[in-house]
Order: sequence, then structure tokens, then C-alpha cells
Amino acid sequence: MSRSMESDELIFFVNGKKVTEKNADPEVNLLFYLRKVIRLTGTKYGCGGGDCGACTVMISRYDPISKKISHFSVAACLVPICSLHGAAVTTVEGIGSTKTRVHPVQERIAKGHGTQCGFCTPGMVMSIYTLLRNHPEPSTEQIIETLGGNLCRCTGYRPIVESAKSFSPSSACCQMNGKGKCCLDEEEKNEPNSICTKLYEKEEFQPLDPTQELIFPPELMRMAEDSQNTVLTFRGERTTWIAPGTLNDLLELKTEYPSAPLVIGNTCLGLDMKFKDVSYPIIISPARILELFVVTNTKEGLTLGAGLSLTQVKNILSDVVSRIPKEKTQIYCALLKHLRTLAGQQIRNVASLGGHIISRLPTSDLNPILGVGNCILNVASTEGTQQIPLNDHFLAGVPDASLKPEQVLISVFVPLTRKWEFVSAFRQAPRQQNAFATVNAGMRVVFKEDTSTITDLSILYGGIGETVVSANKSCQQLIGRHWDEEMLDDAGKMIREEVSLLTAAPGGMVEYRKTLAISFLFKFYLDVLKQLKMRDPRRYPDISQKLLHILEDFPLTMPQGTQSFKDVDSQQPLQDPIGRPIMHQSGIKHATGEAVFCDDMSVLAGELFLAVVTSSKPHAKIISLDASEALASPGVVDVITAQDVPGDNGREEESLYAQDEVTCVGQIVCAVAADSYAHAKQAAKKVKIVYQDLEPMIVTVQDALQYESFIGPEKKLEQGNVQLAFQCADQILEGEVHLGGQEHFYMETQSVRVVPKGEEKEMDIYVSSQDAAFTQEMVARTLGIPRNRINCHVKRVGGAFGGKTSKPGLLASVAAVAAHKTGCPIRFILERGDDMLITGGRHPLLGKYRIGFMNNGKIKAADIQLYINGGCTPDDSELVIEYALLKLENAYKIPNLRVRGRVCKTNLPSNTAFRGFGFPQGAFVTETCVSAVAAKCHLPPEKVRELNMYTTIDRTIHKQEFDPTNLIKCWETCMENSSYYNRKKAVDEFNQQSFWKKRGIAIIPMKFSVGFPKTFYHQAAALVQIYTDGSVLVAHGGVELGQGINTKMIQVASRELKIPMSYIHLDEMSTVTVPNTVTTGASTGADVNGRAVQNACQILMKRLEPIIIQNPNGTWEEWVNEAFIQSISLSATGYFRGYQADMDWEKGEGDIYPYFVFGAACSEVEIDCLTGAHKNIRTDIVMDGSFSINPAVDIGQIEGAFVQGLGLYTLEELKYSPEGVLYTRGPHQYKIASVTDIPEEFHVSLLTPTQNSKAIYSSKGLGEAGMFLGSSVFFAIAAAVAAARKERGLSPIWAINSPATAELIRMACEDQFTNLVPQTDSKCCKPWSIPVA
Ligand SMILES: Cc1cc2nc3c(=O)[nH]c(=O)nc-3n(C[C@H](O)[C@H](O)[C@H](O)COP(=O)(O)OP(=O)(O)OC[C@H]3O[C@@H](n4cnc5c(N)ncnc54)[C@H](O)[C@@H]3O)c2cc1C
Ligand code: FES
Ligand code: FES
Repeated sequence: MSRSMESDELIFFVNGKKVTEKNADPEVNLLFYLRKVIRLTGTKYGCGGGDCGACTVMISRYDPISKKISHFSVAACLVPICSLHGAAVTTVEGIGSTKTRVHPVQERIAKGHGTQCGFCTPGMVMSIYTLLRNHPEPSTEQIIETLGGNLCRCTGYRPIVESAKSFSPSSACCQMNGKGKCCLDEEEKNEPNSICTKLYEKEEFQPLDPTQELIFPPELMRMAEDSQNTVLTFRGERTTWIAPGTLNDLLELKTEYPSAPLVIGNTCLGLDMKFKDVSYPIIISPARILELFVVTNTKEGLTLGAGLSLTQVKNILSDVVSRIPKEKTQIYCALLKHLRTLAGQQIRNVASLGGHIISRLPTSDLNPILGVGNCILNVASTEGTQQIPLNDHFLAGVPDASLKPEQVLISVFVPLTRKWEFVSAFRQAPRQQNAFATVNAGMRVVFKEDTSTITDLSILYGGIGETVVSANKSCQQLIGRHWDEEMLDDAGKMIREEVSLLTAAPGGMVEYRKTLAISFLFKFYLDVLKQLKMRDPRRYPDISQKLLHILEDFPLTMPQGTQSFKDVDSQQPLQDPIGRPIMHQSGIKHATGEAVFCDDMSVLAGELFLAVVTSSKPHAKIISLDASEALASPGVVDVITAQDVPGDNGREEESLYAQDEVTCVGQIVCAVAADSYAHAKQAAKKVKIVYQDLEPMIVTVQDALQYESFIGPEKKLEQGNVQLAFQCADQILEGEVHLGGQEHFYMETQSVRVVPKGEEKEMDIYVSSQDAAFTQEMVARTLGIPRNRINCHVKRVGGAFGGKTSKPGLLASVAAVAAHKTGCPIRFILERGDDMLITGGRHPLLGKYRIGFMNNGKIKAADIQLYINGGCTPDDSELVIEYALLKLENAYKIPNLRVRGRVCKTNLPSNTAFRGFGFPQGAFVTETCVSAVAAKCHLPPEKVRELNMYTTIDRTIHKQEFDPTNLIKCWETCMENSSYYNRKKAVDEFNQQSFWKKRGIAIIPMKFSVGFPKTFYHQAAALVQIYTDGSVLVAHGGVELGQGINTKMIQVASRELKIPMSYIHLDEMSTVTVPNTVTTGASTGADVNGRAVQNACQILMKRLEPIIIQNPNGTWEEWVNEAFIQSISLSATGYFRGYQADMDWEKGEGDIYPYFVFGAACSEVEIDCLTGAHKNIRTDIVMDGSFSINPAVDIGQIEGAFVQGLGLYTLEELKYSPEGVLYTRGPHQYKIASVTDIPEEFHVSLLTPTQNSKAIYSSKGLGEAGMFLGSSVFFAIAAAVAAARKERGLSPIWAINSPATAELIRMACEDQFTNLVPQTDSKCCKPWSIPVA
């Protein structure tokens, strides 16, 4: 084998253009290369770990043997560029652009309203595009599998799925339209003035024309044909990549470098390199070794090459399973079951079978099956070949049972099963798709022929220990036993003893995991019994249908639904876009990757990159900070600390850079500025900080109560005579409920660029912020200069949800100090892990309640105390608790109500604003109380809700008058649309027929108040300028966060100026064009800025009026020109003073909200009592949107917020160590809803509009309201759990904590299996994680 000492040239193509890289660095991944080296910024960074799909691109390869080209999607963040030799990469820029032709996928996702902030869009586009390259008419199953690896935090997925579905043959009809009718039926065509169900015109879509796609580069075909067996070597700064061409060379290399890893998919190794900072001097790539890709099919079984990707394995197994009798393919079927949900498709397309097996991940989905299936590993080295059993010893990492360092796994033999052999696989994960299992299992039993006597039994569990673990001892003891209930009982007890977990086991959920292990055994028992019975119906006992439901896993289903809204008046001019479902202004640019986000901007000469060093202690004194080693690291320009801050080091109690003390893990202590982010990050690790722990360490709300550690005083509201009312109540219920926090998980992480302009201390700040003026203020204060030197620009924000209100100000100031000190432009982009660690999120809450009620369900009195975990600094926490109290009553009139709230000060990162701002927490407590009253009175919850709801014009707890007519209308319409009573009956019937699966249905009303309780927060300004060619530039004080504010502002300007939208442009939000803005939030962005834009336009029209009157038949351009000639100013500032909104907390009174948004949602779910999994079957939402300015945007907000709410209440769980260290720092551990988590049927309708004199054009702000309606899913789950508990004779649980995760559901459905597991005693040793509220 000859190897040059020089680096070989790396050759691949990107979008049809050849790339020759002479110095390819093996540590550089494709995402970095695309974005930073060849400046294709359409592909986005969302997590860096293969979990979010934002970086999806397509790779194509030519196989010279089969002469076929394969196309597959990959997560560019995990693809080493060195693996691309000979490949063609297609990015979102390569498939279409506004300059050439927009690809049908791009067009449909944009026009179908599948983009909001647009940050996930290029990844979505590329996933769908790749699917279509392989399957131009994809099936619904293929679409769902394809999108499972892509996350979107804004849209709620429905429109994205629909865009993809439009390519599927089944899309010719919507199949149901909610009423069992097709939307394409003639009679469904929308009449003017009628209810409309069309948000876009499918007829406008261009057809898919595969002949227009980029061809595979012929040069790469030639390269593949001529592929010599030479060794390729790429040498980087720290790592050398060697890619041999033959097996012999590979084996020799492995002998020469036994500790060098073999990289195929890089999905395991890549994570170690990225997140654990592991670096390898040598990496060997066996991707060109043909022997690793061979598939042999014999009558004993299949031998699969170790290099095959998991997708290839899945396809091979599917093919075999379709041809061979089922009894022989039990292992293959078990593998296939998991291969559908294991990771996302981008990962499965590259992850290799060999890499999967050799990584021996403790939660590997395939190894437990391969292990019980007696598979054999065929390995080779220069010494020869060997067969190693893939068994429990191998999986436990026993050296004698494992590969030697110089050995290579060539293939894996997977046997066919015999007649009396049964194999099953089980897994339960926090999310159905793209989530590592909490626990999984492979189970296999062999019976003596024609009997149910066990002759062999093996069980392997993943997710229980540090490796896959075996229940071997138990299995051995069960040999010879009959497959009956007695055996099952004994097996459960034995496994409980054998498969143990310590209280402090990493991953937590100890009791749940143990219960799952036993519950899976029960499923296996039933599954095998069912198969035995099918073979010999007379010999085996009947299994009740009531039990058998449990064997059906929830399917991966394609969501579908309807959206309805009022059509515009037939008299409205066509040019006038108000009320029409206009596509997001940036939709096409999102879809083509042309939309520029902060980190997409070009790097300036001398620009430096910032990486921060954060505190590893929750509460400690900084004894010393030694940055000398960091300063001496390659590329480092400076290390910035609190000493370098020229002005104020933060605000109130929140320091920018920690000075003498740290108050949470994740607090910024110092920052390293270097010539690249990699250098800055490497150096940051070398900063040495010595801490001395300080007391007390306060992590939880309970800790804060103990130490009386609070932010601000207690806030209180009271009405009626609470004490007296309790005395008159028939019953009183007391309790508490806990609601966990929530990570914003905006897809674009916090990003800022600071560019010093070189004179007069001027600086340009390009920032992803909801509040540009606050960022400007913070930077100016930090630098000690007037605000007029700081210009903040916000072009667009890749999702914010409240998380980019205050935090960007701090982060921009941190960067500004670095720019000030170094004199260089600074780019400060948080990696996902740092973002989640540093920036906080929604406040976790403890609600204590005492409710007095009559036996008919009427609530007479309630005394509620809320405690939120504010973290270590005030931020917006006091406002959040105020909102929670003000809005707590939700839709209910509780005549005697006392609500009190406190912000707990803890040693956690400071929590902050989040969509709904306290309402989703406060109203959740109220709904819990109402549900508890219903349960206590044995009444249907909807009846108790109706009984206590506001029905006539009344006053809220803060004495604001309002009319609940639309609340009642929403409730009634939702009842009707959802066929609530019929479905409730069906749910009850289902529950009677099923023991292990239960359904629940719940309907929840909502009274949501928009706005801030301060008048000045509602002011807004705009600048509208008309140029002499007639084009119009609009600037306003709101920020485009994906919520479509810019689209709406263009619609407003278009109506007011009576010109088509195409004349109007909106560039960016900047503190120069519109000063002193307020944060874009509280659902008022479009309301208040719309008024300002309207005002500016009306001023301009007033000025143009005389000219128009003089020349009524003139054109817009002529009028504008004439105005210029007459020296009439064509620029106007518009202003809106805001709504009167002030709260007097002393009196507990205030007319604080301009108006209310009402709504109702009905959700139905099914739960699996054995695993805790649930399926969202259907949701109907009715929202009082009034005269929507843009129904597509507003329905998008409702759906997106609902799905975010569904995440809050049922999925998303932040985990903290007892020392306040956040474990969940990325999508790997923190699961937001993915495409299969949304309701299978999802209907949204806007209530027939009524006047709303407060807001522009009688519209309503709908940005946040939908969030709380996600709780309908929670309460449906609670109903299902209640049904299960009732059947089992268990006492009701009055208050279920949120989120209702699989763990919570499973443990609430107590049964013989949960009873087998002893409760862990958290007092005897520290648990791995603790709840912080
Ligand atoms: C986002 C994400 C989600 C995931 N979700 C799941 C999931 O839900 N369930 C699950 O089970 N897994 C999951 N995984 C893990 C995934 O299955 C494994 O990372 C993958 O299969 C490893 O294959 P690879 O080719 O990428 O390995 P690599 O990272 O390339 O290599 C891994 C290891 O295997 C060794 N190796 C590779 N091939 C050979 C060989 N032929 N001979 C000897 N040694 C070899 C390497 O030296 C290295 O040590 C997920 C991974 C990611 C990134
Ligand atoms: S950035 Fe690559 S998957 Fe998230
Ligand atoms: S549009 Fe999908 S993340 Fe914003």
C-alpha cells in the first residue's frame, strides 16, 4: 500500500460545480464548509448533532457496478467533507432560486404557508426534494418517514405536510375535509362572502418535472469507473483521514493504527468529536471497501455487509420479509419495526449497520434484537477472519467477546427464525420518531415443538444500564416452564431483581424504566400467546380482545385537517389584500435559502468570533481566573472579562460578565475572541477559573420558599369574600400542581454581529432580537456612550417566542465589549447547547389551590397561590407573575377568588418571556381546579366548565368589563364542530372494550387578553417613504419573527395607499428608521404597528389628495411624480399612541387589555397504559379571530402556538441536576413536537367575525392565544388516565402535573407491573434529576 505524505485533492461537486479542496481537513463538516467556505448559507445550523434537520442536503453517488445513481438526504452537520470524495452535493440553492426558477417544492412550501420564520424551511425543502428524486409520487408513509427528521418550531407542521402531500397521488382529494366530503367537490367551492376553506390555490402550483433536475456530473461517473484502489489521504490540522481502496489495505491500516476509528456514517463518532471534544490523530474510512457492502441470502439467513446504511438494511429486510413466510422472518420484522422510527431519515441514510453495532450504544435499538437473535459478526484482520457471536457478552463490552482493536467488522449474519421461535422488539421513547428510546428490548423464545414449553429464552434491554443488559439469569430459570400466566408472574419478579437501576442512575426515571422492562415482558407474553393460539386455537386459552389492543403500536400517521375562515366581502377591490390569505412576504426566499439571517451575513475583514466561558457552579465566589493558556492558543486575539466593560456591566442584578460571584451554572464569566469559532471554542476550554462554593444553593421553588428567596414583593388580586364563601361551600378541595418550564427552542439560536464603524464610537449591531431598542439601550449603557451611536438592525429572526426579548440585549452587549476592546467586528452565535444553558425559558410553576364548591359543581371560592422559578435575576419575571395572576381565571367567573403570586429567586439561569407570558401557567392551574371539582362531584368536566363560565357582560378579577358572547360562541361552535357528545360516547365505548389502551376527550375554553398592562408599551411608529418611481418603502417598529408582521404591514400599506402589494417593500427593522420601539410581543405587534403604518399612509394620501383630485384618471406613478415636482414630501412618520392600559395593584383594578381573544379547543387522545405512549387523535379549534388581516398567517399562528402548547403540556421536559445543572441542552435530550406528534385530524376555524373597534380593521392579535389551547390535549390525557384508574379501582388523581409525559402517564396507570417495582427513596441518595418547581 503506497501512501503519499502529501494530502490528496478532495474532489466533489456542489450544485453542479466542481469543488477541489487541496487542504481538506477531516474535522471540517459539510455544513461548515457550505456556509463558511463556499458561502452557501441556505443550509442552516440548528443543533449540530443530526437531530433537527435544518442542515439537510442531498448527496448523490454513482455506483460503477450497478451503474445506478443513488440520492439520499443527510444532516450536513455530521458529514465530514473528506467522506465526500466523488459525491455530488445538492443544497437548497442548487434546486431553484428567484433568479432562475423556483423549484416546485420551494414554491409549494411557500405558497402553502409552510414557512413562518423560515429557518427550518431549507431543510424541509431538501428532505422533500430528495424524496421526490427517488419517488416522484410518494406515498403518505414515505412523506411521514421523510419529515420525521426535520423539526419546525413555528408552523405546527400541518402546512408543511400538506405541501409535501401535494406531490402524492392521494392528494387529489383531501379525503375528508372534516365532514367526510372532498374539498374539491363542486359544491364546496367558495362562494363570495361565505366561509372559505382554501388558504391557497393548488391550481397555481407548477407541476414537478424531473427532467429539469441537475444531472449527476459525468466527471464523477468517470471518477467512479476509474476508481483505482489507491489509498486517499487528507491531512488536517489535528487529524489525518485515510481512505483505503481494498480490504487488504484496510486491514493493514487497522494493524498499523489499531486505535484509529473506522468512520462510515460518523453519526456516533461525529457526536463524540463535536460534543465531547474527542479528537483522533488518524481516522480510517472504509467506505470504498466493496466487501463491506455485500448482501448474501442463504437458506439459513441473511449476511449483511457492515457498511450498509440503516436505510439500505431496511430496504433489504422489507424485500425479504415480503417474500418469505412470516414465521421465518421474526428477527427481520422486529428490526424493521425499529428501523422506521430510529433517528431521522437523514441519519438512517448514512449510519451504518457496522457502526451501529460497534458503537454499542446503551439505547441501541437494533443491538438487543440482533443480540437475542443469535447473530454472528464476521470480522477480519491481517491475521485472518473470525466469527464473534453478537451476544450479551459482546454487548456488555467484555474484551474477550469483542473485536480486537486491529479487527474490522465485515458483515453480520442474521438468521431466519425456526417454526417454534418467536422474536419481538419493543421500545418506548419520549417521542414517536427521531428520539432515542427510554427503554427498548429484544425478546426471543423457543418452544419445544408443538408445545408451549420454553426451551430457550433471551431478553436484552437497552436504556437500563451503561450497556445493553441481559436478563440471562431469569431466562435460564424459566427454561422448561410453560408459557402461561404463572410463568409471567414469576418472570416479572425475577426480572425486577435482575435488571436493577440505582436511584441515581443517569437518565433518571428509575421506577418508570424498571416498570417498562416488565411491561414489555407482558407485551411479549401476549404477543407470543396470540401467535401460539393462531397456530393451535384449541390448545391455548382465549385472549380477551380487551387485552389484545395493546399489541398494536400507535401508527405513524399523516396529519390532515381543515381550516376555515370568512371570505372577504365580494365588493372588496381585488387589489385590496386585507382579509386574504397572502403568502408570507419572505416565503419564497425562505424556501430558496435566499432569506438572510444574522449568521448568513458575510464575514468582514478582521472579523472575530466569540466563544464564552460559563460558570460551572450554581453559587460561588470567583477566586481566580487564569486566561494565559487561552491567550496563547492558536488564533486567539483576546480574552474579555468584566474588567473590560467601559460602562455598566449589565442591568439590575444581571451582570453581563460575572464579576466576583456566579449565581447560576451557565452564567457568562468571560469570552474569547479568535480568528475562527473553532479556535475561540478550543481556547475557551483552557480558561482556568477557581471557585469557592457559597451557601445557600437554591435550585427549586421549595428551596426558595425555605430560604424566603424572592424577586419582588408578593402580588395579589382578590374579589368577593373568600373566607365566607369557603364556609358556605358544600365541599373543599386542597392541593398543588406543578408545571415544568419550557425551552423556546427557536430554530435560529441567539445571534449577533457587532461592527464598530471606526469613528465617534459608532457601532452597527446586527441582531436576532424581538426588541431592537432594548438591545441598543443595553449596548450603549455597557459601552457608556449615547444611544445615538448604536444602530441596531433586525432583518428577520428565526423564531423567538419571547426568548429574544431581553437576552439578545445582554448577548449583544457581551459582544460589543469585545468589539470595543479589540476594535474588530465580532460575531457571536450561540451553539444550541450554550443557548439552552445560558438563556433560560418559560418559568416552571408551583400552584397551590384551595377550592370551595357546591355539589352541583358550582365553584364558590378559590384561593390560589402561584410560585414561579425566576432563576437568578429579575429579567421579566415580575411581569410574568403579574400576567399569570391577571389572566388566571381564564373563562370562569369565580365570585370569591384570591390569587397571590411570587417569583422565586434561585440559582438557575434567569427565566424570561415566553409566548403566553404566564397565561399558559396560570390558566392551567385554574383548569386543573375545574377538572378536580368535576371529578370530585362525579360530573362531566364540560358541564362544570359551562356552569362556571362567564355568560353575560361582566368584570374580570381586575374589574375590567368585557362581553363573553364570543367566548360562548367559540365554545358552542367547538362542541358542534367536534361532535363532542357523540365522540365522548364513542370514547366511553372504546374504553369499555379496551383495558390497556384508553381514550380521553376534553374541551377547554379560553379567554385570552392581548397586550401589556402599561400604556406606553403599546405605542408604535412607522416610516413610509414613496420614491419617485412609485415604489414604497415601509419601516415600522415591529420585528419579523416569522409571525408574518411584515406581510401584514405590506397589506395595510397596500390598502391605505390603494396600490398593489408589489409596489411595497419592507427592508429591515432598524433603530435609525424607527427609534424608541417597544418589544414585538404580547400579540399586539401587527395591531399597533399596523396603526402606525396606516397613520403614515393616511398622512401621505392626504398630501396626495389634491393631486389625485386634479387628475383622477392618473396613475400612481404620475401622482407621485407630480407631488415631487410640487415639492410635497413623500415621506411620513406614522404614530400610534397605544391603548390606555394601566393597572393599579394597590386597588387590584385596571382596564389593562384593549380586547380579549376567545377560543375553545377539543382534543381526543389515546394512551397506552403499559408504556405511557399517547397518540393525538383529533383536535378542533375555534378561535375568535375577528376580521383577520391575513387568515393564512393567523391560522398559522394558531396552529403553531397550539403545537408549541401541546409540547409544553405533554412532551417537553427540562431536566436539572440537584446542583442546578441543565442536562437537556439540545434536541437530542429535549423533545419538541415533531410531525407525528400533531393531531392526526386537526381542524381550525375562525369564528364568524364581529367588530373589534380597538384593533386595526377589526382584526385581533392571535400570536399567543393558541398556546394555551394545547392544554386540551393534556386534559384529554388526564381523562384517559382517569378512565384507566377507575377501571383498576384506583382513587382519582385530582391534579396531574405537567407535562404529561410517557413516564407520568405510565406511572399514573398503576397496575400489577408498577406494583412490582419498589418506590425509590430519593432521601437515601441523590436522584439524577429533580423537578425545579
Ligand atoms: C440524531 C441521531 C439520532 C439517533 N437515534 C437513534 C435511535 O433512535 N436509536 C438508535 O438505536 N440509534 C440512534 N442513533 C445512533 C445511530 O444509530 C448510530 O450512531 C449509528 O448507527 C452509528 O453508525 P455510523 O456508521 O454512523 O458509525 P460511526 O460514527 O461512523 O462509527 C461508530 C463506531 O463504529 C466503529 N466502526 C464502524 N464501522 C466499523 C467496522 N466495520 N468495523 C469495526 N468498527 C467499526 C467506528 O470505529 C466507531 O467507533 C442516532 C444517532 C443520531 C446522530
Ligand atoms: S444542524 Fe444538522 S441536524 Fe441540526
Ligand atoms: S418556520 Fe419552521 S422553524 Fe420557523
